[in-house]
Amino acid sequence: MMINKIKTTKQNNFWLSLRKPILVLAPMAGITDPAFCTICSKNGADVVYTEMISADGLHYNSKKTHEMLKILKGEKPVVVQLFGKDPEKFARATQIATKQGFSGIDINFGCPAKKVAGHGGGATLMRDLDLCYKIIKTVCNNTNLPVSIKVRKSIKAESCKAKKLDVKSKKDIIESIDLIKKIKDLPVSAIIIHGRTYEQGFSGEIDYNYIKKARKYFNGIIIANGNIYDPEQAKKTLQLTEADGIGIARGVYGKPWIFKQIEDYLETNKYKEKTWNQIKKIALSHAKFVENSGGNYGMIEMRKHLLFYTKNQENAREMRKDLVAIKSFEEIKKALEKY
Ligand SMILES: Cc1cc2nc3c(=O)[nH]c(=O)nc-3n(C[C@H](O)[C@H](O)[C@H](O)COP(=O)(O)O)c2cc1C
Repeated sequence: MMINKIKTTKQNNFWLSLRKPILVLAPMAGITDPAFCTICSKNGADVVYTEMISADGLHYNSKKTHEMLKILKGEKPVVVQLFGKDPEKFARATQIATKQGFSGIDINFGCPAKKVAGHGGGATLMRDLDLCYKIIKTVCNNTNLPVSIKVRKSIKAESCKAKKLDVKSKKDIIESIDLIKKIKDLPVSAIIIHGRTYEQGFSGEIDYNYIKKARKYFNGIIIANGNIYDPEQAKKTLQLTEADGIGIARGVYGKPWIFKQIEDYLETNKYKEKTWNQIKKIALSHAKFVENSGGNYGMIEMRKHLLFYTKNQENAREMRKDLVAIKSFEEIKKALEKY
């Protein structure tokens, strides 16, 4: 069932009420679960994204996919990110996600992972800009929440053909600016631009100029993403792209306080590193959120965060031996108290 043309109004478009630069926790599968989003919110993130959630899974009422639509108390505006390739499935998925209390809905046009791009979703959707348009329009028409999209700089037609996907675009290199131009009549509120091509994967230079150029074609919020690991790089990215904000992904591993550090650095040109005692406190409150969000179930996921927290610490090797096997909050507490 389609709900037709529900309008996003100024009142429900949270993007318009945020102070700039906007500091965003970028979506990361297996990382940005509700507990991690909460710990980032408490440490300065202005907006947090869920990991990508399958539109097909929601459409077909998959229990596992539905369980991913959780929001914890204390999270800042949470944007739910959907992936898929079928506009009809996006319609129902959007309606379901809208009812869960998220602040916004994002569509994934950037993922290069086999399980997504290999089946024609994520970054490979750009091979067919009409299809992209249909998906975005369907999402806009089925929610009153602000809609955003996440894109990469570009993808080669050749890369899509190599996956045996039918390429509708006539261009050898399809750029996200082509998509931005195509959707100019749709009410998209924000775009996260990862300044790398599909072919670059997750390494290599960010094209800051490209992100800056996107401004010519889009009046909404632009969030620059890629390669931000410290406040200095955050500032540089903002200066070079003139974006409204930045999205941080891997730079937040074991460092959810990076958002606060960036805020401090932008204001005062200084920021503080955390002591091990402070890190332990944050790790424990993170673990508490995990416990609150689903008992010990999420503790397996928590193990990798604990390993990130111990990075560069004196007893990291010994600590890790204990932390890779933890099964509960109490065990984490006991293991950390030893050091
Ligand atoms: C482990 C991992 C999972 C990711 N999952 C998603 C995802 O679910 N949706 C998405 O749009 N991007 C995803 N990304 C891409 C990031 O959001 C980001 O665009 C990319 O890592 C570049 O930013 P960075 O250089 O700050 O890491 C993922 C990246 C990583 C490393």
